[in-house]
Amino acid sequence: MLPYVSCVLQSIRNSGMNERSVSEVDMVNKMRLDDGIDASDVGLTPDMSYFRRGASRGTPVITYLPIRELEQFSMVIFCLPPSGVIPLHDHPGMTVFTKLLFGSMHIKSYDWVNVPQNLAELVNPLQPTSLPPGLRLAKVKRDAIFTAPCRTSVLYPEDGGNLHCFRARTCCAVLDVLGPPYSSARGRDCTYYHDRPYAWFPGGRGEPGSR
Ligand SMILES: [Fe+2]
Repeated sequence: MLPYVSCVLQSIRNSGMNERSVSEVDMVNKMRLDDGIDASDVGLTPDMSYFRRGASRGTPVITYLPIRELEQFSMVIFCLPPSGVIPLHDHPGMTVFTKLLFGSMHIKSYDWVNVPQNLAELVNPLQPTSLPPGLRLAKVKRDAIFTAPCRTSVLYPEDGGNLHCFRARTCCAVLDVLGPPYSSARGRDCTYYHDRPYAWFPGGRGEPGSR
């Protein structure tokens, strides 16, 4: 077993969670990755080829290192060269533990805003009451630069910044634990989004918020 695999699994065992019997409830209630874990623990260093931009001038390639893929959860490390971007995406119905192992990155995250139709009509009866098809309202949760060492972030299905985008300022390694994992058969596909200011749309009137 690769050193970082055994190390991360040991971290999970130390948290009191059995990797083979963990339930979704366990994931939410018990799982806390060891905040002391860093790049040296997982056998990754910034000088590895994963973190080089390469010769091309195109978008830096993001490397995906799968660690564990179980029915209850999956564990993966993302390796981002400088300027690497993981576009805005969601984790439907999932709880995500994200740990920046090394590097510095800009993270922007959102949570969905669910506005009842009749409430929208009451608030602004002169404006269209629904967004055009394909658009959905979201509010900014975080818009900040994170530099390792920093604490593990927890994204819940409805809160914590379930939609997020990573932009690497330096080379970065990010450990993600997803519970439950993505599954198209169970309605948990990853969807990518573009965000646009709320003020761009009818009825926005410059209020803060984004889509
Ligand atoms: Fe993500």
